[in-house]
Amino acid sequence: MGYNVAIDGPAGAGKSTIAKLVAKEKGYIYVDTGAMYRGLAVHFLRKGINADDRSAVADACADAEVTIGYENGAQQVYLNGGNITDLIRGEEVGNMASRTSAIPEVREKLLELQRSLARSHDVVMDGRDIGTNILPDADVKVYLTASVQTRAKRRFDELQEKGVACDLKEIERDIRERDERDMNRDIAPLKQAEDAVLIDSSDMTIPEVTAEICRLCR
Ligand code: DC
Repeated sequence: MGYNVAIDGPAGAGKSTIAKLVAKEKGYIYVDTGAMYRGLAVHFLRKGINADDRSAVADACADAEVTIGYENGAQQVYLNGGNITDLIRGEEVGNMASRTSAIPEVREKLLELQRSLARSHDVVMDGRDIGTNILPDADVKVYLTASVQTRAKRRFDELQEKGVACDLKEIERDIRERDERDMNRDIAPLKQAEDAVLIDSSDMTIPEVTAEICRLCR
């Protein structure tokens, strides 16, 4: 059994940035479970499947194999053997991932992959249901959040930096919609595990949050 650190929280709370830094500091591997849902989402988009058509999504899971690997320490996502790491970050894929992640067959498909990585490695795993559902016995559990305004502003700054035209109000609306969906779905909704440490990063720097989580680890 590996040493397991679970970090859950809403979109834009900084989970992946922080989880990567904690993993580096501690010498654990970083597992981004959102990237796996995004990998399946690419498959559904390629097949032209409508996210509302639950049975079509469930059927399409049968011919998708999502795996992950590491190149120079960075997580790579493969779909049926092809590296799709560069294709998963867009809004279209993110929305498809959020919508289809509410479907039981989709979650079932990824559950064993996530658990087996945690069994065989020391991991920092981030997602929505890691502390509550995937790794209920994780050694450290963190629920990382920040206000909607802060998360929207961070996303806005990130896109501006990349030279992508965007609108702060629109981003804020997208984030609210995503929270609503991720927190209110029937299976494995996003919520703080009872034994998770709550960290609100709204007024904290990245090094401060990283240090706080590292302190919780062995
Ligand atoms: O963290 P992210 O934005 O890459 O995740 C994309 C979507 O995948 C997210 O909106 C909900 C879903 N997801 C999930 O349901 N469970 C996880 N453990 C991780 C992500």
